[in-house]
Amino acid sequence: MEAFRIQGGDRLKGTVSVPGAKNSVLKLMAAALLAEGTTVLRNVPEILDVRIMCELLRRLGCGIDYDPAAGRVAIDVPAEIGHRADYELVRAMRASICVLGPLTTRLGAAHVALPGGDAIGSRGLDMHQAGLEALGATVRLDHGYFIAEAPEGLRGTEVRLEFPSVGATENLLMAATLARGTTVIDNVAREPEIVDLCTMLARMGARIEGIGSSTLSVTGVERLSAVEHRVVGDRIVAGTWAFAAAVTGGDVTVEGVDPAIMTTVLEKLELAGCRISTGEGETFRVEGPERPHAIRVATLPYPGFPTDLQPFVVTLNAVSDGLGMLTENLFEARWRFVRELARLGAQVSIDGRHAVITGVGELSGAPVEASDIRAGAALVIAGIVASGITEVTGVDHIDRGYERFAERLRALGARIERVAYEQRSLEELADLADGGGREGTSS
Ligand code: UD1
Repeated sequence: MEAFRIQGGDRLKGTVSVPGAKNSVLKLMAAALLAEGTTVLRNVPEILDVRIMCELLRRLGCGIDYDPAAGRVAIDVPAEIGHRADYELVRAMRASICVLGPLTTRLGAAHVALPGGDAIGSRGLDMHQAGLEALGATVRLDHGYFIAEAPEGLRGTEVRLEFPSVGATENLLMAATLARGTTVIDNVAREPEIVDLCTMLARMGARIEGIGSSTLSVTGVERLSAVEHRVVGDRIVAGTWAFAAAVTGGDVTVEGVDPAIMTTVLEKLELAGCRISTGEGETFRVEGPERPHAIRVATLPYPGFPTDLQPFVVTLNAVSDGLGMLTENLFEARWRFVRELARLGAQVSIDGRHAVITGVGELSGAPVEASDIRAGAALVIAGIVASGITEVTGVDHIDRGYERFAERLRALGARIERVAYEQRSLEELADLADGGGREGTSS
């Protein structure tokens, strides 16, 4: 097992570049399934989730040529592809369900393992299911698999999403590209990653109107063709660096993301006392204050404040000069990391969807565990501002979404290293309690 070991007390300074967005590239890779031929993606981040998606596509019969150093992946999609996404992969990465739409529309069948914790018809995949059914597919659950079938192909319809779900928008959009007739999807998510997907699909030959708005109208075509596409920059990673500057009182220039897609985030950072400078193109600079002011944030679908930056808001408020508030409107169980942050001395109280955070003068380093990608990165940043040493375990979560995280932090002046971490199992602890080993002890 590995951990990030951080010696706290540094202000981050310098320039950092941001690769393509995780939440875009995974969907673009799935969209490649819609067309026979070789799709080439550039600005691909070097993260674990891309490797998982490569494996998923490989098992469906695609040829994959992934060059992480060059940020390029070529996906060669043959005429015949498989229709099954295994549990092993979907469990490792929930976003694997984005192959559902492409497989159902192209093959007339998709068998995709259900991600843990979800059941058909319950919160989680109900909008995916209802949308595919409206498009003419039959959907059922069989031995843990979500099975969608449409042997005659999908047909255009009108769908209104209950909530602008990112995943449901993407699956239905991709499904509609090869359906017969026109599909109008109302109340869709408008995240920049969805605009990126629409842009690539349009280049492949899809007929889409309303890109970037709440209603997408998609007229199905016979076939799509493989294209080359550059992945949009990762606004969540860019936001991570922006908050890192704000929390540590640093001065960080972020390259690779258009600040226009981060307006809500940058406005909140200004309220926290940061100076934000935006120049021409895909760059902006964040100069953090000596100590941030507390901010009030409610997470919302884009263009609202992104839920994925929520742990950074809590971290900023934890070291602020006042009383901060956070309301989580998208995910219910996103508070696990707060318990870990409390180990560093943060004062947070939770009531349902709301967290009230009282700023403290200083956090103090301690061992903590990352429970997901963003929580992990936020704990690392908390470790940089804390006194003494913080060890963050669960680094593989961070690897899922951040390319060379420690290396980039070191370049900005943080003292962080990746170390082997020995975590004893309960059995080993029991052995210790028994005085060094149970072997030979009578029962
Ligand atoms: C995507 C992002 C994730 C981000 C989230 C919200 C990827 C790989 N992940 O996740 O980082 O935090 O958008 O911006 O792109 N819901 C239902 N029924 C459905 C679908 C969703 O109830 O059929 C609920 C979910 O349980 C959740 C909320 O809607 O509470 C948001 O989910 P959704 O927008 O679909 O997020 P994801 O696509 O899973």
